[in-house]
Amino acid sequence: NIASVLSWEAFDSRGNPTVASRVTLRDGTSGSAIVPSGASTGTHEAVELRDGGVRYGGRGVAGAVANTNTVLRDAVHGIDATDQGAVDSALRDADGSADLSSLGANAILSVSTASARAAASAAGLPLYATFGHAPLLPLPMVNIISGGAHADGAVDVQDFLVVPVGAESFHEAIEFAWRVRRGTARVLEEAGYDVALVADEGGLGPRLPSNRAALEFLARGITEAGLELGTQAAIAIDVAATEFYDDDSGLYHLASENRHLSSTELIAEFEAWSADVPIVSIEDILSEDDWDNWPKAHAALPGTQLLGDDLFVTNPRRLARGVEADAANAVLVKPNQIGTLSQALEVIDYARDHNVATVLSARSGETEDPWLADLAVGWRTGQIKVGSTTRSERTAKWNRLLEIEAELGASAQYAGPRALGPDPV
Ligand code: PGA
Ligand code: ZN
Repeated sequence: NIASVLSWEAFDSRGNPTVASRVTLRDGTSGSAIVPSGASTGTHEAVELRDGGVRYGGRGVAGAVANTNTVLRDAVHGIDATDQGAVDSALRDADGSADLSSLGANAILSVSTASARAAASAAGLPLYATFGHAPLLPLPMVNIISGGAHADGAVDVQDFLVVPVGAESFHEAIEFAWRVRRGTARVLEEAGYDVALVADEGGLGPRLPSNRAALEFLARGITEAGLELGTQAAIAIDVAATEFYDDDSGLYHLASENRHLSSTELIAEFEAWSADVPIVSIEDILSEDDWDNWPKAHAALPGTQLLGDDLFVTNPRRLARGVEADAANAVLVKPNQIGTLSQALEVIDYARDHNVATVLSARSGETEDPWLADLAVGWRTGQIKVGSTTRSERTAKWNRLLEIEAELGASAQYAGPRALGPDPV
């Protein structure tokens, strides 16, 4: 049972303050967690509380920390930490708002996750082993070239990623991704682009003349890496189209190319890309509230994983609406978009029941805390997206997955490319 909660201000990978918490149980065991923070956040996400004012330029989280150390601590006092549902209900009830804006989704997720860690520690189990499922190592989706809000708008599409579909284990998949990052850096450098600096998620952020150019460099990088494009290494993109959608005109503005496209034209653009290179997954192809056109995109790209991030914001109700409308066939799951582990798991269970694939995802502002890796394995999400193969807040997750894989040894089960379909299990 939970005896106490202690919170403090920590830093995320962009150097912004974030909330860290430790939950201690009556038997003296404890667990802690630090929460991440997004940059290209969806309008419909749960709300992280920031202080405003002058401290940390307004980005401080002293208020959220104070809420954790008082109201939230009292709300979970005495609750059995192995009953995640009870812990999370108490946290939500204490907040009282649907978007957790009273006490802060950052405060709430830190306690929800630290409590899961404490329960695991009390049981003498790694976190991934506490969910009652056989562990499944996820297929990684790895950032190679970044644009959008993560690379100062170098290009408009936010992520160009590699999916190592031909790898037969998690460690081989990561090695493929590493080779592709190096191969892509090499072809970019030969073409005269700067590859010394990295973007928020550790990807390359060259100022390319067009979005299409980034796609082509990545395809060349895969070949340069000695991998066969499509069968060994395929491409995924996160368009993050909400970021360049203009509400007034109803058009999508590709600033790097000085083009304004309608929803139909934007879909056609990605259809053309897909005809030329093997793109297995497209995330946020349209804006978060472009509900009329998402089903058209889905119909236009059969066989592609159409992934909703800002569209669904890990919200069971938005996912249900999307399933109803046939808007997409996969959901990105970011626990801090909804605020508690229980609700994130609810989204995964709903997705599984409706043949929707799941991709567990980090945020662009991350920390050295690798809890996401354990959740991917224990929840059997099948896929994971945490950025590139550089920057410690990214490698912390890869390293944790490599540790779990080693620990499981011969019994390690790897999702592989099947996870791109609706039924990885
Ligand atoms: P964010 O980006 O964490 O900045 O929202 C991640 C993503 O869009 O997938
Ligand atoms: Zn996204």
